[in-house]
Amino acid sequence: MRQLIAGNWKMYGLTEQAAGIAGPLRDGAAGLSCDLLVCPPFTQIASVARILAGSPVAVGGQDCHVATQGAHTGDISAAMLADAGASYVIVGHSERRQNHGETDALVRAKTEAAVAAGLTPIVCVGETEAERVAGRETEVVGGQLSGSLPAGFAGVVAYEPVWAIGTGRTPTEADVAAMHGFIRAALVRQLGAAGQGVSILYGGSVKPSNAAALLAVPEVGGALVGGASLNAEDFLGIARAAVAG
Ligand code: PGA
Repeated sequence: MRQLIAGNWKMYGLTEQAAGIAGPLRDGAAGLSCDLLVCPPFTQIASVARILAGSPVAVGGQDCHVATQGAHTGDISAAMLADAGASYVIVGHSERRQNHGETDALVRAKTEAAVAAGLTPIVCVGETEAERVAGRETEVVGGQLSGSLPAGFAGVVAYEPVWAIGTGRTPTEADVAAMHGFIRAALVRQLGAAGQGVSILYGGSVKPSNAAALLAVPEVGGALVGGASLNAEDFLGIARAAVAG
């Protein structure tokens, strides 16, 4: 399975900055041994998709509503993301879980909505620092997986320890290996043989200097990159560190 290097731009990217990242990605993406994805803010999805049309770089959203349309002021549906040119959507990012009170049940409903709209969902899970210090990281992540993934799930999972996001800190390779192994076993328990086909991304302070080590860890199927995805050269540097598969 090819590794997936996904960029989460979060709430960054006015028109000029978005085009300034997307253009070099379009030009630099040829011949990479991994799949590339960028998830700009809603307002830039259509313009970034136009810039990347015909290139191997896919476009995704960062969140979606559970409904296809309706009286939901300020929300964006998965069908709208697809209509704007997205083929993926991130759901259940820890910033949504923490800042918007998103529960596993809501994340599962969003995942189902994404699939219904033809998008590939990237479902995020990960423990807080306090949960890891208390030795509860597998219990927490196991609960998020069983609560957030619908039956028949065939998308992507991203393991992002909350304490590693935007902090410059990363787990050890041994800790990443242990958690990704745990997630793989949980996926197979939950989904049967199909659980083997789900890519498990690592996210949290991935940058060009640590990407090769993290991407070489067993069961790491790619990376979900925040800060470093806002610089095309850094993002491509991470992509060049991907393991060909
Ligand atoms: P970071 O963010 O790479 O800036 O740590 C990762 C994420 O939140 O997906």
